Amino acid sequence: MSLLVLLCILNIATATAAHLRPGFYSESCPEAELIVREVMKKAMIKEPRSGASVMRLQFHDCFVNGCDASLLLDDTPNMLGEKLALSNINSLRSFEVIDQVKEALEKSCPETVSCADIIIMASRDAVALSGGPDWEVKLGRKDSLTASQEDSNNIMPSPRSNASFLVDLFNQFNLSVKDLVALSGSHSIGQGRCFSIMFRLYNQSGTGRPDPAIEPKYRNRLNKLCPLNVDQNVTGDLDATPEIFDNQYFKDLVSGRGFLNSDETLFTYPRTRKFVQVYSNDQIKFFKDFAKAMIKMGDLQSGRPGEIRRNCRMVNSRSVDTLLES
Ligand code: HEM
Repeated sequence: MSLLVLLCILNIATATAAHLRPGFYSESCPEAELIVREVMKKAMIKEPRSGASVMRLQFHDCFVNGCDASLLLDDTPNMLGEKLALSNINSLRSFEVIDQVKEALEKSCPETVSCADIIIMASRDAVALSGGPDWEVKLGRKDSLTASQEDSNNIMPSPRSNASFLVDLFNQFNLSVKDLVALSGSHSIGQGRCFSIMFRLYNQSGTGRPDPAIEPKYRNRLNKLCPLNVDQNVTGDLDATPEIFDNQYFKDLVSGRGFLNSDETLFTYPRTRKFVQVYSNDQIKFFKDFAKAMIKMGDLQSGRPGEIRRNCRMVNSRSVDTLLES
């Protein structure tokens, strides 16, 4: 990781998030949280996986210059956005669900609720609606005026990452080893592509061999799902109960059935292993620690100026006067 990226991360992790608080919209848009939950409910009835896909947006937004909805900006002639960054291209999905939430909110309370807060509320709702914990979110974020594909490329971890790398990365964001393992429990719902596991099935660490940590029967299943000539966009479940937010993910890791290398390594690495063991036996503790860690991740702020976007995909247009002033 370059010094510049490190400084940029440290800056985000230490920037004040003092203005974030529960009930931020209680006067300006009292129905905001209800509206978000209703749209999420409908989306997940239509397509259960959309819950997982929306929840993942919080991670990919907050780690890159804070939770500011920079991730949602489409590319423009002058700006390469984050949607096509290495970890996001052909992978992040359900942006249209966020659009639906925004549309519903704009009808009730125009230009009031930020897209950054929508990601935070919708992620919480996705977990709660999948059978996981529910928690009070802090709100009051602003939407960024720009996005950075380069920062996303430099920061977001690859599925090949090992636990020691992930511990260091999360530490830069003030997230502990426990937070890392709890947050990885998000992989209790959703799917990943063959693209993300080909190396561990056929050439782990350049050995020409599979990752020895994969349990043999599970490996056979993955080999069938992802043969060498497969379309790399074919997807497999991240745990054995991919529509239910539970501690099955951790039970799977203990039995060598983690889908991603970055998942299984949490069990093979001593510093993270003990948390995997605890969560595999104690779903209530997992739920408590997960909610806490999501709130902590939601506190990441860049400290840069922002706005309330009218459309989450683009910054608000500025009048000539404002442009001349700035
Ligand atoms: C610890 C480091 C992490 C790594 C290396 C990682 C990597 C990945 C990868 C490679 C995929 C599959 C993408 C694909 O194949 O297209 C994935 C899916 C997913 N990730 Fe992570 N992830 C991490 C942490 C997180 C966190 C902190 C969250 C949320 C709190 C999260 C939420 C999800 C969800 C819900 C999915 C499934 C999405 C869907 O079905 O559309 N991940 N992750």
